[in-house]
Amino acid sequence: VTIERPAREVQAPTGVGWTSLITTYARAQESRRPDRLFDDPWAADFIAAATTTAKASKRLPRVGPARDDDSSALWEMFCAYFAGRTPFYDQQLLAGVDAGASQVVLLAAGLDMRASRLELPASTTVFEVDSEPVLRFKQHVLGHPEPGRIPVVADLRKDWVTPLRAAGFQPGIGTVWIAEGLLMYLDVAQCDRLLDTVVALSGPGSRFATEYFTRNPRHDDVEISDDGDLEAAEMVLSLFSTGPQAAPERWLTAHGLQPDRTDIATELQRLGRPVPAMFDPHRPDTVGLWLTAGTLGEPIPGASER
Ligand SMILES: C[S@@+](CC[C@H](N)C(=O)[O-])C[C@H]1O[C@@H](n2cnc3c(N)ncnc32)[C@H](O)[C@@H]1O
Repeated sequence: VTIERPAREVQAPTGVGWTSLITTYARAQESRRPDRLFDDPWAADFIAAATTTAKASKRLPRVGPARDDDSSALWEMFCAYFAGRTPFYDQQLLAGVDAGASQVVLLAAGLDMRASRLELPASTTVFEVDSEPVLRFKQHVLGHPEPGRIPVVADLRKDWVTPLRAAGFQPGIGTVWIAEGLLMYLDVAQCDRLLDTVVALSGPGSRFATEYFTRNPRHDDVEISDDGDLEAAEMVLSLFSTGPQAAPERWLTAHGLQPDRTDIATELQRLGRPVPAMFDPHRPDTVGLWLTAGTLGEPIPGASER
């Protein structure tokens, strides 16, 4: 699919596409820290473009706290969560490439810039699947095609294999699948279909990394500082579906994957970062967020020597 760069102003994505701006805001804030976990220099450009889009500001909740310093519990939580999960996915992606995968598919890529940020081998192709408005906005801000990054417009609840194959994806070879911040927007049957499809398309040395909540967050799990936070929180919560509804060991194993799992509180502690109250493992009825990866088949022999 060719995404034309529109001549004039592009709209910031709306609906579930808007959530790509929240995670990008967190990456922009993280990249400004002296003790940053990663550097995503594109994130600030996306946020600047989204927040200066006149059409966006009228219809969409504010991206970021009233002051641009994370100074609200809601945005501190968002920043901790989204920056804290990034190293997990980076490591999974790099481990998969090291095990022989030459394709990466970002399912619900949003404004993720791993294709450029991780300095992958030139032989790696990164397919970025998301909705047309999200990918159009991304392309508009980037301004030029990035080598090895192929946008694929598709709805992940429907037939996404046809557009993925049309974009050059090769079934049956080693592939890393990243579904970061996606499954909470899908119901059980949609999650099962997605994973069945991933497995069917994957060859040896493939892996699938994702995350989902142990239970959906509610209004009373998040602290709200002002009307802007309230609007953002309500928007996010209104978009949630159910996710897979089975613990990772059971869900991944049922689909033929070797599961591995951690969770956001563990990862934040490992990274020396505070755990937001919502994810505090000592809080009764806390919200857990699993970060999980499954591997398929044996790695390709000699792949790590390439
Ligand atoms: C929270 S964002 C995560 C984006 C990116 N993975 C990241 O971590 O920054 C969720 C993304 O999922 C995409 N998405 C949600 N449902 C989708 C669907 N059915 N088909 C395609 N994309 C979808 C949205 O457009 C959005 O870009």
